[in-house]
Amino acid sequence: MTEPVNILAVESSCDETACAVVADGRSVLSDVVASQIDIHARYGGVVPEIASRAHIEAVNTVIAQAVNDAGISEDDISAVAVTNEPGLIGSLLVGLMAAKTLAWTYDVPLIGVNHIYAHAYAPALDSEPIEYPAAALICSGGHTALYHCRAATEMELLGSTIDDAAGEAFDKVAAILNLGYPGGPIIDRIAPSGNAQAVDFPRSLLKGRSLDFSFSGLKTAVLYHVNGVPGAKDNRGPASDRPARKHGIENFPKAEIVDIAASFQAAVVDVLRIKLRRAAEHTGVRTLIIGGGVSANAALRAAAADLADELGCTLRMPAARYCVDNAAMVGGLAWHYLAQGTVAGLDLDAHATIRR
Ligand code: KG4
Ligand code: ZN
Repeated sequence: MTEPVNILAVESSCDETACAVVADGRSVLSDVVASQIDIHARYGGVVPEIASRAHIEAVNTVIAQAVNDAGISEDDISAVAVTNEPGLIGSLLVGLMAAKTLAWTYDVPLIGVNHIYAHAYAPALDSEPIEYPAAALICSGGHTALYHCRAATEMELLGSTIDDAAGEAFDKVAAILNLGYPGGPIIDRIAPSGNAQAVDFPRSLLKGRSLDFSFSGLKTAVLYHVNGVPGAKDNRGPASDRPARKHGIENFPKAEIVDIAASFQAAVVDVLRIKLRRAAEHTGVRTLIIGGGVSANAALRAAAADLADELGCTLRMPAARYCVDNAAMVGGLAWHYLAQGTVAGLDLDAHATIRR
């Protein structure tokens, strides 16, 4: 029997300091995530400078715990992988520096991994290999994009958001509705008890068969629904339908807030489903992938499953813990780069934005 190829991976692109050890691309031996959610919650979003400093404080402990949890010795590590793009530049640099140091100390190859590609690979973790080619919908707090994946490492960008990301829209709408941060999981939890048809929010599909996304109009529609259209008296329909009421979220009864959340979620999920269908038709693939934080959303998972059934495709979705940011997805994908000999030098750079 050949020895397993264990890859130690570091992920620090946003507000999670994470380290994992993954054997042979799919078997997760350890998976440690130190979340900064509590630190950023009081600001209602991630503060880049604070995130960088928190990564510096956490990174060594998180790495030590991942090696310990994996039950392997440092000699059993075949390579070190790290997210080097895209993300918050200061945050990326902390993980990158730690990974370079480890690769140099252990005298093993260093592998740079794109965070979004890693999200698209997450369904393979602790699971069956993904059958390529596939169409992947990756929706997270920072990105919403469609890819044609010819292989785990061969990703072609088909479309992406021209303004807000889907997760960002969830978080901003939750803030408008005074629900807390981060908003995605909260809206996911309360939406099933609301009426998703209560408010007919816009579904922005852009021109023609566009595979790009736009969520800022939807976010603004929620804002206007709650606070009124600037300069207009009331945008909630004829006065005869509703008793006169002052705008402002504090004037909405709880049940109505839940209806707004459910209606908003339905609009996002509709758009994501329609675009994933377009990507499947455009590429003619038989495998669909969803990934990124928003792929934890129950309504999106159900809609993607229905779509896959309808198209006769196989749907691959990550287990809940691999939807949100983690290092296991980085270590898994890195195995494919290592197998094809794509390794980096110690001069590997970090990049804040997606390079096409
Ligand atoms: O992938 P991720 O952990 O980080 C980024 O790469 O951005 O995604 C975080 C985003 C947040 O906007 C969060 O609100 C959203 O994913 N999210 C969800 C759910 N869980 C996380 N959105 C909708 N429903 C969920 N269950
Ligand atoms: Zn992410």
